Amino acid sequence: MINLKTQVGIIGAGPAGLTLALWLKKQGISSVIIEHRSREYVEARVRAGLLEQNTVDIMTDLGVAVRLKKEGQEHHGVYLSFNGDRIRVPFGELTGGRNITIYGQQEVVKDLTNEWLRGGETLLFEAPAIKIANIDTDSPEIHFEHQGELGRIDCDFVAACDGFHGIGRKSMPSGSYKEFSVTYPYSWLGILANVAPSSEELIYAYHERGFALHSLRSDKISRLYIQVDNDDREENWTDEMIWDELAIRLGTKDWELKRGPIFEKSITPMRSYFIDNMQSGRLFLAGDAAHIVPPTGGKGLNLAIADVKHLVDGFSDYYLHQSKEKLDHYSEIALKRIWRAQDFSNFMTTLFHKSDAHGSFTYQLQKAKFDYIKSSKAYATMIAENYVGLPF
Ligand code: FAD
Ligand code: DHB
Repeated sequence: MINLKTQVGIIGAGPAGLTLALWLKKQGISSVIIEHRSREYVEARVRAGLLEQNTVDIMTDLGVAVRLKKEGQEHHGVYLSFNGDRIRVPFGELTGGRNITIYGQQEVVKDLTNEWLRGGETLLFEAPAIKIANIDTDSPEIHFEHQGELGRIDCDFVAACDGFHGIGRKSMPSGSYKEFSVTYPYSWLGILANVAPSSEELIYAYHERGFALHSLRSDKISRLYIQVDNDDREENWTDEMIWDELAIRLGTKDWELKRGPIFEKSITPMRSYFIDNMQSGRLFLAGDAAHIVPPTGGKGLNLAIADVKHLVDGFSDYYLHQSKEKLDHYSEIALKRIWRAQDFSNFMTTLFHKSDAHGSFTYQLQKAKFDYIKSSKAYATMIAENYVGLPF
């Protein structure tokens, strides 16, 4: 039996769990992390790439932004396209100088993991949590398995940062929260390709054949997505078919899409999900454990980090000022931002995806919104400030 003792027991070494651990350490609060998967698996998992200004600032404060500053790309605007009509929304003048940075989530996870382990802290990989107990007492427990042995973490608080499929949310008492869920009638086929980006900034495009997004990872690697049906499969798409589709959907005059070898291809469903209470007794949920947003707008990872900020505020207040005030209101505070992000992600998703016939009522509303972005600085500002992330 492995027995660990700490102040905050953290389940999950994704962006939320790792950031929470490092931030608590900075405040002098101890924690240990257990992670279901292997280190190789977690570090290779291809996901998001868009970091809000807030997220970059937090990484900088935690001292884990050296590589991010060197290899990440700061963007000062974004292109929006509607049937080949492409416009640019500049961030600087609309948001008072706030920006986004493109840097792959798995690179963020590598940097955070390295920093945590460099400090000699505990992080057990291949250690799934199997039960969370005694959350209504002052000494909750996390039970887990590791290399064929059973283990237990005795702690003051449990932070479940264990993603959508983790046990954190399932360990909340039944009836302690309401659940909200929307499944969209389309998915994303995402690729990574060994080719220089065809645009220096991201392009979100509505096309009568469906949505497309041009993003990037470096000067040599492009990241692109297209809308596909929910029952579609990667095998249905040859590289040539993907590039042809991207060229049509992203196309505009005097612009050419560069093509190259595709080395990763996967389909992600689109979902909005959240629960209206993220805490019970000594158990707190953060990140995807409590909410999922559709990826249009790049909010998932940033929202996970925002939850952590509020959780750290609560734990700091408790340990450093002997007050439970902020901790007691964690869920209420975090949910304000989550609702805002849900709305913006839904707005971007329904604006740029094809969900009804070309020329239909839905289409006309989408087009009216796009035309309004072109003519109204106020509307463009709404998009810019939500996209770069509202200040805390
Ligand atoms: P996660 O990153 O999911 O981390 C949770 C961790 O907990 C995982 O490492 C998991 O292995 C571990 N875990 C689970 N159960 C247990 C257990 N019982 N015991 C111990 N550990 C456990 N967002 C965007 O903004 N843009 C995108 O393009 C985008 N693409 C995505 C593609 C996919 C396939 C997925 C799944 C998500 C995507 N997201 C995207 C969302 C974004 O990646 C997430 O919002 C972000 O990962 C949330 O971080 P997290 O730390 O809360 O959860
Ligand atoms: C990326 C993903 C997104 O969902 C998004 O809105 C922007 C960029 C990306 O993977 O680079």
